[in-house]
Amino acid sequence: MTIFDIQQEILRLKKEKDICILAHSYQAREILEVADYTGDSYKLSVDAAKVESKNIVMSGVRFMAETCKILSPEKHVYLPNPDAGCQMADQMDKELISGVKKMYPDYTVVAYINTTASLKTICDVCVTSSSAVEICKKIENDKILFIPDCNLGAFVASRLPEKEIKLLQGGCPIHAAVTTDDVKKAKELHPGALLLVHPECRPEVAALADYVGSTSGIMKFAVESDAKEFIIGTEISIQEHLQYTCPDKTFYYLSNKLICPNMRTTTLVDLYNCVKGTAGEEIILDDKTIADAKKCIDEMIRLGG
Ligand code: 13P
Ligand code: SF4
Repeated sequence: MTIFDIQQEILRLKKEKDICILAHSYQAREILEVADYTGDSYKLSVDAAKVESKNIVMSGVRFMAETCKILSPEKHVYLPNPDAGCQMADQMDKELISGVKKMYPDYTVVAYINTTASLKTICDVCVTSSSAVEICKKIENDKILFIPDCNLGAFVASRLPEKEIKLLQGGCPIHAAVTTDDVKKAKELHPGALLLVHPECRPEVAALADYVGSTSGIMKFAVESDAKEFIIGTEISIQEHLQYTCPDKTFYYLSNKLICPNMRTTTLVDLYNCVKGTAGEEIILDDKTIADAKKCIDEMIRLGG
């Protein structure tokens, strides 16, 4: 079967089995082409809440599929490849953060959406990279415990000096691997290019950027900008998608370290097998986890909307 044949089969099965496919922007182009909704993690959470189909397939990583299940508990939600985790989401668990909360009892706990459903149950508000600054600004309490990403947290703190933001040593190892040396090299190679980076990068890298934002923010900035050359400081797939979308502009990746193995794990064939019903994992969460975790996601949607 060719890629086109597999895509046609997925489209047919989607209709036949009442399946809606959501795909994160880091997924491969052939997956994005058959998805009903695509975008960054904030957009996908808002889209997930609106889905009418009985079944949702989330082509992304596990915490994204869990978020769909929390927002649509009556639906069947599937992760096409069960190995697609997120190294950041797996760094901190409920037990660890329960202990930390005792040290900071008067702090509002803000959880990046890249956390497990179980951890979300003890957090106050969720944020995504595109909504973190706006949401933290709206939180009445000036004391914020921001978990797990210290780089995104530092970015928020730089934009909201009026807030007292406590950070823990967590984050995305893929984005955090990029150094100012990588920036120096990329800028030397492409002196006319604008540098666009994700806030999961280290603060000293973000400080050298022309724009810092979520995956959708980076894509929107690049599409709308009059500039012709860009260095993309997030997962390499975004550089590839932008090059496809804007053939008259040139996109370079900031570093070849920016490859997320988890996001690359899911293939078009995994997606096909999942809609066929021969692969994938249905996300099962107990009612209490769903109810408790939903509070902080609802709060994100309320404050971010
Ligand atoms: P976005 O919030 O930009 O979708 O990012 C999710 C993510 O996992 C980035 O590494
Ligand atoms: Fe998780 Fe980092 Fe991959 Fe995003 S890029 S899914 S934060 S491991």
